[in-house]
Amino acid sequence: MARVFGSFLLLVLVFPATMATDPSPLQDFCVADLNGQVLVNGFTCKNPNLVQADDFYFGGLRMKGNTSNPVGSKVSTVFVEQLPGLNTLGIAMARVDYEPWGLNPPHFHPRATELFTVLKGTLEVGFVTSNPENRFITKVLQEGDVFVFPMRLVHFQRNIGNTSALAVSTLSSQNPGIVTIANAVFGSKPDISTDILAKAFQSTNDIIETLHLKF
Ligand code: GLV
Ligand code: MN
Repeated sequence: MARVFGSFLLLVLVFPATMATDPSPLQDFCVADLNGQVLVNGFTCKNPNLVQADDFYFGGLRMKGNTSNPVGSKVSTVFVEQLPGLNTLGIAMARVDYEPWGLNPPHFHPRATELFTVLKGTLEVGFVTSNPENRFITKVLQEGDVFVFPMRLVHFQRNIGNTSALAVSTLSSQNPGIVTIANAVFGSKPDISTDILAKAFQSTNDIIETLHLKF
């Protein structure tokens, strides 16, 4: 038994990469061929001889995101779809803009941990641990502060100031994914039946139907 455990420990120590989120690259780069017809985990590589500096560049974060929406925030992602040079590199980022009192609503990233930095404003942030504790861990962040949202846990940020706020996130996958709880539960296509949600949320069909209409 001790030997089995010893071998396991050795494996974990010798191959720490096996604990990473995205697979490690086997070459300098593999710029995503976004139109590739071969379906693999990630994207196939563009011919390296045809790769240009622009494949490693994204200029779309210069402008504030459009926060005119019911929650008053906008997440502008720089995932592999926007920056093909990220393919196989296991990292991505996002710019998040907030109106005064704007909310980036409860969501999780199915494939990434998020390291969040406040560039402007004061933000209340939080995440909830898994069952059965469902512990709510929360903090108020000021400019320059950094907070980590552990992989796959539900989290949010809210601007608690009367001026706009700005943050950037780094995420530990080229394709972190975003599952926004309200949209997934009340805005699925097709709908999850009202009676299922009424029972799950210990609520009434009327309330669930109102929420279905909103999402
Ligand atoms: C983006 O997903 C964020 O939570 O900032
Ligand atoms: Mn997030």
